[in-house]
Amino acid sequence: MVNDAAAPREQWGSRIGLILAMAGNAVGLGNFLRFPRQAVENGGGTFMIPYFIAFILVGIPLMWVEWGVGRHGGMRGEGSTPGMFEALWKNPLAKYLGVCGLFMPVIVLIYYSFIESETLAWTFFSMIGSTQGLDQEGMRGFLDSYQDPLNGGVHAAWVPIAFFLVTIAVNFWVVSKGLVAGIERLAKFAMPLLFLFAVILVVRVLTLPAHEVVEAGVTTSYSPWDGLNFMYTPDWGALAQPKVWLAATGQIFFTLSVGMGTLQAYASYLTKRDDIALSGIATAATNEAAEVVLGGSLAIPAVVTFFGVTGAVAIAKAGNFDLAFIAMPLVFNQLPGGATIAGLAGLMWFGLLFFAGITSSVAMATPALGFVEENFGWSRKKGAIVLGILAALLGLLHVLYNTRGFLDEWDYWAGTFGLVILALLETVLFVWVFGPENMWRELHDGATIRIPRFFKFVLTYVTPVFLLVMLVWWTVQEAIPILLLHDKPESEHMVRWASRAVMLVILCGQLYLIKLAWARRAARQEVG
Ligand code: TRP
Ligand code: TRP
Repeated sequence: MVNDAAAPREQWGSRIGLILAMAGNAVGLGNFLRFPRQAVENGGGTFMIPYFIAFILVGIPLMWVEWGVGRHGGMRGEGSTPGMFEALWKNPLAKYLGVCGLFMPVIVLIYYSFIESETLAWTFFSMIGSTQGLDQEGMRGFLDSYQDPLNGGVHAAWVPIAFFLVTIAVNFWVVSKGLVAGIERLAKFAMPLLFLFAVILVVRVLTLPAHEVVEAGVTTSYSPWDGLNFMYTPDWGALAQPKVWLAATGQIFFTLSVGMGTLQAYASYLTKRDDIALSGIATAATNEAAEVVLGGSLAIPAVVTFFGVTGAVAIAKAGNFDLAFIAMPLVFNQLPGGATIAGLAGLMWFGLLFFAGITSSVAMATPALGFVEENFGWSRKKGAIVLGILAALLGLLHVLYNTRGFLDEWDYWAGTFGLVILALLETVLFVWVFGPENMWRELHDGATIRIPRFFKFVLTYVTPVFLLVMLVWWTVQEAIPILLLHDKPESEHMVRWASRAVMLVILCGQLYLIKLAWARRAARQEVG
């Protein structure tokens, strides 16, 4: 249902620009912060087995599903999942199911930008040497005060607020420029720089000399290779634990950015002649290289060298933030070369995290902008300004209340649980409602390779069953305690329920906008 008033849809400028933008979408904070921690907590080397099985059985298939659904909808003028789902299934319900791909990116965008703003702040702090000479206690105080502006301490409350607002402004300035001049240009500049920084840091970390660490009175010498060994030593018992399989699948979802609606939105700017089959694989492979090769060789080996295995485990268990924002600056302070090298290393580490973050957050803004553009005739600029202001206001809640569980609720419902729901919906619609033969043909339009037949079987049966089993397993095992906050401290319940209420308001608002949009479409059709 093309809006006849609208200008022709924008298209990607070049194939390399598209792949870099798609890889920028997938490569994010998850590759460098979330992955090493998940591996350490879920069996070390053994984690890689369920991880790669999930990559083959759900990761790669969903990548193709999302590129296929997105391009199919895009050719009908649809840039977000409500319209894309209707293009696959002529049922009044389809557009409402598609709200997932509008809701989740907006929710994740808002809290992800807060974490991203923290990487921007630490890039700046590294440059001016604020964390130099701090010991572990000092670093913790420095981080805690930033994350909890209501409690005072090292930073004034306006500091995290200012970095957050700057981050939001940069993000929406980029998207307001459009697909080619904004997102594609950012990716062409930020992605090579990100890889360069990561490679330099990996080489520096892996060539570190061994270091003596005292653990419980015993002195041991640790090298970076001990860190790799520790991370990849198999623990076969872990394979019998469902939680390890769930964690591996969750990481595959998160790191590939599937189940959100953003890969579909990017793919909607492709044409029938563009390849999906090879580009989808290239994006997934780039992400895995950045995750397993670079992400896996950075934080854990560096931290093990200076803190030993016991110390590294304690830090990793304390949270994603401790590894990145406390342990890494401590490592940098001890690098040979003094203050200059410490500053440079910090600049590269936090700079790479910031680039990884921003090339992801601009993707999260894309579905909602497409939606208002196509349905309400807004310009990209107007959409960027309005969504930017809303994101800034709602994000302030995260800046102020993230330590009290506000962020965690959004991360759980939209960033973890919701992904499985959207993935299941789109797979069933694309494979079963649209039909396996149509699906297979759609994936091969313009394709520069043929997808192995094995994957037709996987897409038709294995992926949907895998997703369904995950969902049923969750409902039986976890639904009640999680819904009722059984494992959360009483003191956080108020903030957590408020956090859920805000999400619910946003969801209802979006459902209403979909209703309004389709009413307008019907009216337009009657006139035309
Ligand atoms: N893949 C991103 C990372 O590794 C996180 C992410 C999840 C994401 N879903 C997304 C990014 C959707 C952009 C769009 O950090
Ligand atoms: N839950 C994470 C923590 O406990 C915070 C977080 C959510 C995060 N999404 C993320 C951190 C993505 C890094 C990347 O620290």
